[in-house]
Amino acid sequence: MIENIKLELKELLEKYFLNTYNLELNIVVEEPKKKELGDISIPSFVVVKALRKPLNDCVNEIVNVIKDLDIVKSYQIMGGFINIVINKEEIAKEILDKIIKEGSNYGNGVKKNETIVLDYSSPNIAKPFSIGHLRSTIIGASLKLIFEKGGYNTFGINHLGDWGSQFGKVIVAYKKWGNDNSVKENSLSELAKLYVRFHDEAKTNPELEDEAREVFKELELGNEEYLKLWKWFREESINEALKLYDMLNVKFDSYNGEAFYNDKMDAIVKELEDKKLLVEDDGAMIVDLGESMPPALIKRRDGASLYMTRDLAAVEYRKKEYNFKKALYVVGNEQKLHFNQLRSVISKMGYDYADDIIHVNFGLVLQDGKKMSTRSGRVVTLIDVLNEAIKMAYKQIDEKNPNLENKEEVSKKIGIGAVIFNDLKNHRSLDYEFNLEQMLKFEGQTGPYLQYTDVRIKSILNSCKATNEFDYSLFEKPHYYALIKDIDEFSLNINKAMEDYAPSVICKYLLNLASDFNTFYGLEKINNENEVIRNTNLKLLSAIKIVLEEGLRLIDIFPLERM
Ligand code: ARG
Repeated sequence: MIENIKLELKELLEKYFLNTYNLELNIVVEEPKKKELGDISIPSFVVVKALRKPLNDCVNEIVNVIKDLDIVKSYQIMGGFINIVINKEEIAKEILDKIIKEGSNYGNGVKKNETIVLDYSSPNIAKPFSIGHLRSTIIGASLKLIFEKGGYNTFGINHLGDWGSQFGKVIVAYKKWGNDNSVKENSLSELAKLYVRFHDEAKTNPELEDEAREVFKELELGNEEYLKLWKWFREESINEALKLYDMLNVKFDSYNGEAFYNDKMDAIVKELEDKKLLVEDDGAMIVDLGESMPPALIKRRDGASLYMTRDLAAVEYRKKEYNFKKALYVVGNEQKLHFNQLRSVISKMGYDYADDIIHVNFGLVLQDGKKMSTRSGRVVTLIDVLNEAIKMAYKQIDEKNPNLENKEEVSKKIGIGAVIFNDLKNHRSLDYEFNLEQMLKFEGQTGPYLQYTDVRIKSILNSCKATNEFDYSLFEKPHYYALIKDIDEFSLNINKAMEDYAPSVICKYLLNLASDFNTFYGLEKINNENEVIRNTNLKLLSAIKIVLEEGLRLIDIFPLERM
């Protein structure tokens, strides 16, 4: 809304200069560097330059156009700037009424008939589920919610690493050392164990590698026994990953992984051939990508298919099937080259959707400055990490509020929310430090701090009586207006988060909103004896609550009633 006011002023002035001087100007309407100077600032330099008139004359002309507008309460000329204080009563009323009327729909983008496809989590079956996959899961899930809020259709794909030479190894290892029950109980971790054992034993017994290659080749040719094992490993692994997804409240629209593209790769290879892009290189097939990058490997010397080939088949399939506006791949920084190559091959094939392939890259999780690995990153240990967070949250609750009902349920929401918030709050491309104690603090930049602020607001709302008379002139005060401005900027921040594929934008926004609220709370007696003041305060709080909870939902964090 305040954005619109700026835009209207801009258009009004541009129209004036067009009509009066036949000049097409780009008038800047911004916010002053310092809040004390006003709400809106118009620098006159563009006009001075275009009209070639003295500064004062130009400033006066601008002032004449705007000074009688309703929205302008007062103005001040400072150097070449016109600083405007706007009338806040009407704005505050409109914004509050809108939020309260729209509820959780507030901030929704215009419905677009466009689809964003998101590829996230995507662990490798028969290899460890790493902390990186946890990051991908959390970032992808949040982006999906943000794009839905922004008015897009979304489609979430768990591009399981369910095909590849590792299956040769795991099948060999399983037949030698595995047993049914342990795979049933702890499939992902059990298979990872077998995978690790295979590598250990292969160090002294390199023939194992040949055996595994042979087995994978037969698997690709359709060996029934191996296919059955593969299928079983795959199912058990998905079931185990689901436990983690359940805890995190993450869902997918499809589990079509790499294996799904097995029968779609010949077509891609043929297309590359027809387009004269495929060249032979020492027995292998590659696409040359020029000076700037190494070639993309399409077929290995032994004929085995590759990660890249499957991704090429996958992106073509996704374009045909979902006609995506953007295809997002939430994958760690270390696969930058892979996605550059993917984009480059697609572009060489003549498809302009190459530009819509977006690598949503992210950094490492560190512990004491070093890359974190949860003892080979097994999914069970990831669940252990979440359980540890829950336990620590429980301890805090137990100290602060021992009589709270359903402490277990509450600790779960706090503990998991803390891990999620800590992951999302810094820009995804950065590495971050994993410190459970820090992320569980009730103050500072944490998930629990936001949940706590929300609980505080709700407990005030529940304990105060409101009627229906308001005094919007209160919003002339800076700590009142700061909050109006915050809640007004919700959709602006959703747009920013979509532009940069960055849930951290929403996190920072919510931290700022919570901090402005807590300042307000320190300055103002919300349950004021004066009925009109009290009502106005409560109306403001109701609106903040709506925005805060909707914001929390977008970063996959549950609000609480008590904590
Ligand atoms: N399974 C891969 C890995 O763990 C990530 C897959 C990402 N998605 C994709 N379409 N390449 O490294």
